[in-house]
Formats: sequence, C-alpha cells, structure tokens
Amino acid sequence: MELLKAARAVRDHAYAPYSGFKVGAAIRAGSGKIYTGCNVENASYPEGTCAETGALAALVAAGETELTEVAIIADGPGPVSPCGGCRQRLAEFGAGQVPIIMGTLTGEVKTATLDALLPGAFSSQNLGKG
Ligand code: THU
Repeated sequence: MELLKAARAVRDHAYAPYSGFKVGAAIRAGSGKIYTGCNVENASYPEGTCAETGALAALVAAGETELTEVAIIADGPGPVSPCGGCRQRLAEFGAGQVPIIMGTLTGEVKTATLDALLPGAFSSQNLGKG
C-alpha cells in the first residue's frame, strides 16, 4: 500500500535517541500528493515532535490545507495509535471519514476513521468561524 510504504520509508529518518521509538507518517493531500514526516526528539524531552505533526507541516508548507488519508507506522507490539494532540491536528485538515491507517513493521494493519479516533473534535465551528 503506497501510503504505508511512504510512512515506512520516512520512519528510517526518525530521530528518536531517547525513546528509541521511531515513527513515520504519510499524509495524502487534496491534490493527491503525499507528504511525510518522522518524529524528532529533543534532549529537552517536551520539545520533541511527532511524525504526524512533521507530515502536516510539510503539507501546509506546500500550500495544501486538505488531507484525505493518513498512514502511521512504528515498530510496536501492535499498530501505532496517534497521540491525542496529533488527532486534533489532523482533524483541523481532515473530514471525520478520513481513514487513518495504523501499521507495524511486521505487517499488522488497523484502520479507523478520524471521527472514530476523535469524536466531538474541537473545531473552527466551536469558535464560530466554521
Ligand atoms: N510519537 C509519534 O511520533 N506519533 C504518535 O502518534 C505517537 C508518539 C512519537 C513521540 C516520541 O518521539 C515517541 O513516539 C515515543 O512517544
């Protein structure tokens, strides 16, 4: 699967010397193009950033504001689950029905919609700007 393959490839560049947990993320944008990101940790632990956040930054920097599909991969005991903060960041640019594909290096894959992962997401509508 193309998106998961892209996530696996970028995971190789993850900088995770503290947790040892490398993560790769790939996001398909409205244009059809794929943007990728990996986690980047820091000696000041809270300053580290998630793979999904990096991929989202690349998508926005390329001038896109819509996502249609997301893939995340790590070497965990089961498919990697996006953290709460990243669910909220993804919800800024993706509709509730967007599939989030979660994988392991051993080939286990689980898919859930963004809405199932973050029901009742805070959005621009809550601000009266949607
Ligand atoms: N991490 C991600 O990159 N994405 C997630 O959705 C979950 C966690 C990273 C953050 C940290 O560098 C490492 O995984 C361990 O928490």
